[in-house]
Amino acid sequence: MQTPLCRRLGCELPIFAFSHCRDVVVAVTKAGGFGVLGAATFSPQQLEAELRWIDDHVDGRPYGVDVIIPTAYDKQAEEASAEDLAAMIPSEHRAFMDRLLADAKVPPLPDGERERITREIVEGRGSMTPDGARRLLAVALEHPQVKMVVSALGSPPPDVIALLRERGIVIGAMCGKAEHAARHMQAGVDVIVAQGTEAGGHTGEIATMVLVPQVVEACAGKVAVLAAGGIARGSQIAACLALGAQGVWCGTVWLCTRESELDPFEKEVLFEARTEDAVRRKARTGKTVRMIRSQLSEAWEQPGAPAYLPTPLQGILYNEAHARVVKARRKELYSFPAGQVVGMIREESSVKDVMLRMQMEYLEAVERLQALTQE
Ligand SMILES: Cc1cc2nc3c(=O)[nH]c(=O)nc-3n(C[C@H](O)[C@H](O)[C@H](O)COP(=O)(O)O)c2cc1C
Repeated sequence: MQTPLCRRLGCELPIFAFSHCRDVVVAVTKAGGFGVLGAATFSPQQLEAELRWIDDHVDGRPYGVDVIIPTAYDKQAEEASAEDLAAMIPSEHRAFMDRLLADAKVPPLPDGERERITREIVEGRGSMTPDGARRLLAVALEHPQVKMVVSALGSPPPDVIALLRERGIVIGAMCGKAEHAARHMQAGVDVIVAQGTEAGGHTGEIATMVLVPQVVEACAGKVAVLAAGGIARGSQIAACLALGAQGVWCGTVWLCTRESELDPFEKEVLFEARTEDAVRRKARTGKTVRMIRSQLSEAWEQPGAPAYLPTPLQGILYNEAHARVVKARRKELYSFPAGQVVGMIREESSVKDVMLRMQMEYLEAVERLQALTQE
């Protein structure tokens, strides 16, 4: 199962795990895969603490960091301080969200907690601009076990490419269309993560099965391709390697693992969700995110709802409301980014068990194919 990209990065299995949760990153990495910490919602100080913890627990193995470097974002937000960012949310939008929660009888957060959560969200959302990503990367570069950096929502700019290249870090970028792959290659990336619409999080419209061969063709062997979106089984890993990918990049499958930081109420919603409940909506960040639909996400789609705010303002507004919903344990209002494979996950497992099951299923799939060629 080891591919040239695994050898280059120093991991045994071509299973890349995107997670915001340091325990998942460590567990996947220790199980032979390649954990990648989603850093975009952290402030530089929080990221420093997370990476220090990962370094201390990962037994010297390599891992990665993912940042969001959007090509389209609110320029004013880029220059705003954390306090100014919260103040940039129009009162109409705040009133709409407050009314939704008040009508649903979701209590406000207690004062101290509300301020703490707002501060954390605002500091994190401030990291989702090119300069915000640069601040996070300055932290990541102080951690030599970080061997790969991936950018989402746009190609890394030339100064970022030059800096990472100088440090010998493998550079990746997410892509949802073959045209994006061409742009990323021109920018100078080493790895392209071809992410199909099935994926949880920000996602495009083309399915993984269609996108991966297109991106593999566009890359013409010059850069490695990872397949993402809708992958939770070893048979799917076999399929993606057959399509020419050098590995898979999974996100949703880790959300309900024992190591995931989601609380039991949140995991329960995900276990109950069907594949068709994972829909694409803009309510969470202002950009299209595949997430579990809820009364809160759907209210923003109704006629008369305010227009979505640009990134990162919609995210600040939504996440404050989300914190209230989680605290009140209100399943019908709970939305979280998750891909279509959410419908295939029914119970909690450890990361190690997920990894072992994937390897067994991969071998069974390969045996099935070998039996066909022998016939
Ligand atoms: C909760 C969640 C948050 C995500 N946030 C990001 C992110 O910040 N940056 C990023 O590159 N991808 C993000 N993604 C997408 C993943 O990197 C990955 O491409 C996707 O989860 C793969 O599809 P899957 O969900 O079907 O496994 C996120 C996915 C999930 C489920």
